[in-house]
Amino acid sequence: MNKKRIAVIFGGSSSEHEVSCISAASVINNLPKEKYEIVCLGITKDGRWYLFSGSPEEIADGRWEHDPLNQPAFISPDRSIRGIVVDGQMGFDVIKVDCVFPVLHGKNGEDGTVQGLLQLSGIPFVGCRALASADCMDKAVTHTLLTAAGIHQAKYLWFYAEKYKTGAEKIKRKIDARLGYPIFVKPANAGSSVGVSKVSCEAELDEAVARAAKEDDKIVVEEAIVGQEVECAVLGNAEPEASVVGEIAASAEFYDYDDKYKSGKSQLYIPAHLDEAVVEEIRSTACRAYYMLGCTGLARVDFFVRDGKEVILNELNTMPGFTSISMYPKLWEASGVSYSELLDKLVSLSFEIRTQY
Ligand SMILES: Nc1ncnc2c1ncn2[C@@H]1O[C@H](COP(=O)(O)OP(=O)(O)O)[C@@H](O)[C@H]1O
Ligand SMILES: [Mg+2]
Repeated sequence: MNKKRIAVIFGGSSSEHEVSCISAASVINNLPKEKYEIVCLGITKDGRWYLFSGSPEEIADGRWEHDPLNQPAFISPDRSIRGIVVDGQMGFDVIKVDCVFPVLHGKNGEDGTVQGLLQLSGIPFVGCRALASADCMDKAVTHTLLTAAGIHQAKYLWFYAEKYKTGAEKIKRKIDARLGYPIFVKPANAGSSVGVSKVSCEAELDEAVARAAKEDDKIVVEEAIVGQEVECAVLGNAEPEASVVGEIAASAEFYDYDDKYKSGKSQLYIPAHLDEAVVEEIRSTACRAYYMLGCTGLARVDFFVRDGKEVILNELNTMPGFTSISMYPKLWEASGVSYSELLDKLVSLSFEIRTQY
C-alpha cells in the first residue's frame, strides 16, 4: 500500500506553544505508521517555520528548536505545489504532502489563520475550516452565534479593552444590571485559561480587565456558574457524532493553566457524574452547536451543569489538547475508539472535504 504523507504542524505563535508541542509529539507517536509517513513542520514562538527531522521527544520538550538540521520551510499557498517548500542548500525543494494535521492551539493556529493558508494550498487538512475555527476561537462571536441558534449559555457581555479606558463606568453599570457578581473576565481570543480571572466584586475588575487585555483587545464578561464542568468530544463532518461525557474536578479556584498542565491535581471522571437524560442533552447540544458553527473534523465542546440538570454551553475548542492523557482522546477511548483509530479517522475525514470550489 502506498503510504500517505502527513505533515504535522506544531508549536506556533501562541500562549499555548508548549502544549501544542506536547500534543504533536503524541499525535506523531500514535499515527499508524503502516499507513502514514510523517513530516514535521515546527513553528517557533516568534513565528519562524522549520522542517524538523528529529524525534517526537525533542518536539515535546522544546529541544527541536535548536536542532542544527532544521531547514526553513513553509506550506505553499500555490495549489500547483500542494506541499512544503524547503529552503535547502541547493535552492528550494518541494515535499508533496497528502494531508496536513495542524496540531496548533490558540492564536495563529487554531483561529483560522493557518486554516486559511491550508485552504489556499488545496491540501486536505484535519479539523475545522477557517470560518468555523475563527468563530469558535472568539468567545464573543461564539456567544452571539449560539444565542441566535437558541443554545443556552451563561449570561454575558463583551467590550473592547480600548473602550474600558474611557468608558469603564458605563461598562460597570451594565455588568451590575445584567450579570451582578461574581463574574468571569476573559480575553475573547486566547485559551488554556490564560488571562482568565474570577472577579468577586467591582474593586477587582480593573486588574482582571488589564490581565485579559494583555491577550486580546476584546474582553468577555460572564456570570460565574456554580456547578459541574463537563466536556464532550465531537467527531465528523456534516453528520457529527458525540462521545461519552467527561467531567473535570478542578483542584484550584477554577480550571486554570497550572491546573490544566502543571500541578496535575485536577481529576478527570469518565463518565461524568450525571443523569442519563442530562448526558443525552449535552451530547445532542454538542452536535447541534458543532453543526451550527460549521465545524468539521473535530471539536471538544465544553459545558457547565448547574444543579445537576441545567446544561450551559461554555465553549468549543477546535483543536483541543491532544496528549494521550487529554480529555478529547480519552473520551473517544471510553467510547470504544482507540487513540490511533481516532487519528486515522481524523485523517480520513479530511479527505471527505472538498478542497477546491
Ligand atoms: N462563566 C463561568 N463560570 C464558572 N467558571 C468559569 C466561567 N468561565 C470560565 N470559567 C472557568 O475558567 C476556565 C477557563 O475558561 P474558558 O472559558 O474555558 O477559557 P479557555 O479558552 O481559556 O479554556 C474554565 O475551564 C472554568 O473553570
Ligand atoms: Mg476552556
